[in-house]
Amino acid sequence: MNIKQADFTKSAVFEKDYPEELNHIEFAFVGRSNVGKSSLINSITGRNKLAKTSKTPGRTQLINYFLINKEFFFVDLPGYGFAKVPKEMKKEWGLTMERYLASPRKKLVFVLLDIRRIPSGEDLEMLNWLDHYGTPFKIIFTKMDKVSNNEKFKALKDIRTKIDFHNDDVFFHSSLNNNGKEQILNYIESCLEG
Ligand code: GTP
Ligand code: MG
Repeated sequence: MNIKQADFTKSAVFEKDYPEELNHIEFAFVGRSNVGKSSLINSITGRNKLAKTSKTPGRTQLINYFLINKEFFFVDLPGYGFAKVPKEMKKEWGLTMERYLASPRKKLVFVLLDIRRIPSGEDLEMLNWLDHYGTPFKIIFTKMDKVSNNEKFKALKDIRTKIDFHNDDVFFHSSLNNNGKEQILNYIESCLEG
């Protein structure tokens, strides 16, 4: 599919701030801070500056909505697991994210995992949470440009000690060279066709 139009809609914290359109599917991107959520949104929309990216983890603190092709939303969620943030702020972000995930919006969640990292306790909590609530989700492994093919297989073996998945049921992506972008876009298109 082609992304012809991608516009920032609004930032939100509470449910009352979410966009009024309830019939649009929302593709939400979650994962630990710095995993590459905002970069992925920019890569697949082909808009380099749409979502703010940063070397400093914890950059995205609000829920950011982007309207794509006037038809569906991308939702950039605050990252979890950033140690250097004061406890109170961490709690606030966690609540912002949980409120969104628990909301009755038409959503599909992409859970981003860095290919070079063993999934953290919070990653596992997120996956269990989605499972438990029956929220549809897909895993995307990010930063694939950082590993060789051999390293990829070793990494997947290590990650499998924590979570179970089939290779053809997950996505592999690099925001540096955009590899894997087409597969994600095709999947999004198949969701829209419903
Ligand atoms: P928060 O908003 O803090 O939760 O982070 P985020 O998940 O949105 O991460 P962001 O997209 O801001 O990326 C964090 C850092 O990783 C930036 O320095 C990016 O340039 C880098 N990065 C993201 N994706 C990739 C990738 O696929 N390859 C490489 N090499 N670097 C990446
Ligand atoms: Mg971000």
